[in-house]
Amino acid sequence: MIRLGVNIDHVATLRQARLGLEPDPVAAAMEAVLGGADGITVHLREDRRHIQERDVRILRQMVPCGLNLEMAVSRDIIAFACEILPEEATLVPEKREELTTEGGLDVLAHLAAVEECMGQLKDRGIMVSLFIDPDPRQIEAAHRLGSYAVEFQTASYSEAKTATGRAESLQRLVDSSRMAASHGIHVHMGHGLNYQNVFPIAAIPQVEELNIGHSIVARSVLVGMRQAVIDMKGAIAQGRNGTGLRHH
Ligand code: PXP
Repeated sequence: MIRLGVNIDHVATLRQARLGLEPDPVAAAMEAVLGGADGITVHLREDRRHIQERDVRILRQMVPCGLNLEMAVSRDIIAFACEILPEEATLVPEKREELTTEGGLDVLAHLAAVEECMGQLKDRGIMVSLFIDPDPRQIEAAHRLGSYAVEFQTASYSEAKTATGRAESLQRLVDSSRMAASHGIHVHMGHGLNYQNVFPIAAIPQVEELNIGHSIVARSVLVGMRQAVIDMKGAIAQGRNGTGLRHH
């Protein structure tokens, strides 16, 4: 079975639109758990545009499944993670002006900084995953650093404009999954996955975890978070057992 990490950042985005109390991402997380979420994922961004420290602290106490903290390679946030102790930390690149995480972390270019950050997190018993592009050089770098898991950035697949482009991106994800697994690295994926394009991704045998946010939160506005998670779990199961519709 593939684990589904439900990213609830955009529940907090809605709350921050009025700087009020609702909707509370903690309540959404509890509903996601009731719908079968295997983990809750949040990105505490440097600019605090959605998730706040308060959310992570309460989630830490309330989430019965794993908490995955997405975070930049930065001193302040590492100190926070070492205090909160999520089960998993995913290191991501972060730019203030971006709408969402663009591209994977360039582990090769920031080898020493990533290694230091990973070391601090691992010393506190946190499993570290690196959010990288499906690129052999990045996988080699993750391997050199002894990474427990990588999360492949699926944007080039989910945002492909043509069927050919999508097929090529999918093939890169397939090849990269094989390569990572051959090094003993756990394979996670995420970014832009939705109820239509998740099937071929879930069919990749090495994939163990998907982190999905926007499409689930968008559907939750119409059908509720619990149902939105049930629907996504169903789509992932269909993709894995080959009964899902092919997107391309
Ligand atoms: N994984 C990572 C590392 C991310 O940064 C994001 C976006 O916050 C996601 C998964 C989820 O992407 P989406 O919201 O497009 O499903």
